[in-house]
Amino acid sequence: MAPPRFLAFSGLVLALTVSTFYPAHSSPSTMGSRLQTLSPLALGFLLGLLVAETPLASALQQLFGLTTRNPDKVGLDILHGGINSSSSSSGDDLADKKKAELNQRTMYGLQHAFLNLEVTGWWFNMGLWDKVSDEKTLMDKEKTTPRFKAMRFQDACQALVRKVTDGLDISPKSHILDVGFGCGDQDVYMAQLYQPAQITGITIEPIQHHAAEDLIRRTATPGTKIDLHVADASALPAFLESNPEVLPNNQLFSHVISIDSAYHYRTRAQFLKNASKVLQPGIGRLAMADMILAKPVPTSFLGRKVFDAVFGAMEVPAVNMKSLEDYKKDLTEAGFVDIEIECIEDRVFPGLASFIENQLGRLGGLVKPGVHWTYWGLCKGLFWLDRSKWLHFVVVKARKGNSLSS
Ligand SMILES: C[S@@+](CC[C@H](N)C(=O)[O-])C[C@H]1O[C@@H](n2cnc3c(N)ncnc32)[C@H](O)[C@@H]1O
Repeated sequence: MAPPRFLAFSGLVLALTVSTFYPAHSSPSTMGSRLQTLSPLALGFLLGLLVAETPLASALQQLFGLTTRNPDKVGLDILHGGINSSSSSSGDDLADKKKAELNQRTMYGLQHAFLNLEVTGWWFNMGLWDKVSDEKTLMDKEKTTPRFKAMRFQDACQALVRKVTDGLDISPKSHILDVGFGCGDQDVYMAQLYQPAQITGITIEPIQHHAAEDLIRRTATPGTKIDLHVADASALPAFLESNPEVLPNNQLFSHVISIDSAYHYRTRAQFLKNASKVLQPGIGRLAMADMILAKPVPTSFLGRKVFDAVFGAMEVPAVNMKSLEDYKKDLTEAGFVDIEIECIEDRVFPGLASFIENQLGRLGGLVKPGVHWTYWGLCKGLFWLDRSKWLHFVVVKARKGNSLSS
């Protein structure tokens, strides 16, 4: 059955044709009276063209720059993943039929996606994802990728926070310095988990600080004072100097935490030295989720250029991309002892990649193309990282040594 809009459009074309060529009976057929009849119809014809869903209309819509998304289509795009996957299994005819059905005009469509989308926070770490099993299954796209349980992004992010903070003896007396806090979700979460006396956070991005402040204002964290600032982790001493109220009376932090952020600092080795200086000697704890190299840095000229360019694009100073041995050395030289490093990349990169892949299928039509393609690239990059084993994603825990100076 032809869609109603197509019929309306055809009706308009017919009306226009008749009015142009059928001579009027009541008045002599002059050019002026013809034009009077013609103009409202021509206008209707034009409007009809702009809203109709026909190939000719599409061409005209493009010409007039009117191809912004139809709200119905935005909702329908959610289902496009379903169409694509059915085309391979059930044949092209069925896929075409489904596509035609989905493209029909609807009364409500799926615009109510707006009412159902839930923003559960602004979490932003790579997450710790639960595997279903270690066995390789045929269902996996990459065939070498273990399958992961369907988890919400925020649950995987919270799992990473627990992994980093577990066993650190955070108590109601603790004062945590949280470096690179994102949008503050991890601070609220740590407050709920451990009720430390105070969390002081720094981030380099004012817009994230703004979102975090908003979250803190809206969320009660009884027993914990959360203080957030815009500051560069690479300039920790300058931050503390200009904010003396953070550590009054020569106090020091009980914990320095940095989740999925330290590889950005210029440089991380310098940050570790500064972090060590502001921790209580003998008891202060450092805990980080971080990234380091799992393979040697390329030695060829071209290889080195590509290496620098890739990490440069990710805003990661190439000097931070160190081997496990050099990483341990940096920690030791900064004055840390009891250093524990666990490599967990097999529960991070492929888990996040699978999640993004699913998310693109579910929400593809709801996001701007720029965002869509950014995450598509990230997803492919993470699958590649998982296969190539270039990077370690590590959880580091260490204690500040007894020395006061380092
Ligand atoms: C991948 S995000 C992780 C955010 C947060 N930890 C979370 O889990 O939601 C990395 C964060 O590090 C912050 N960051 C990067 N370089 C920084 C620097 N030099 N000083 C402070 N924060 C920095 C970024 O603003 C960003 O919020």
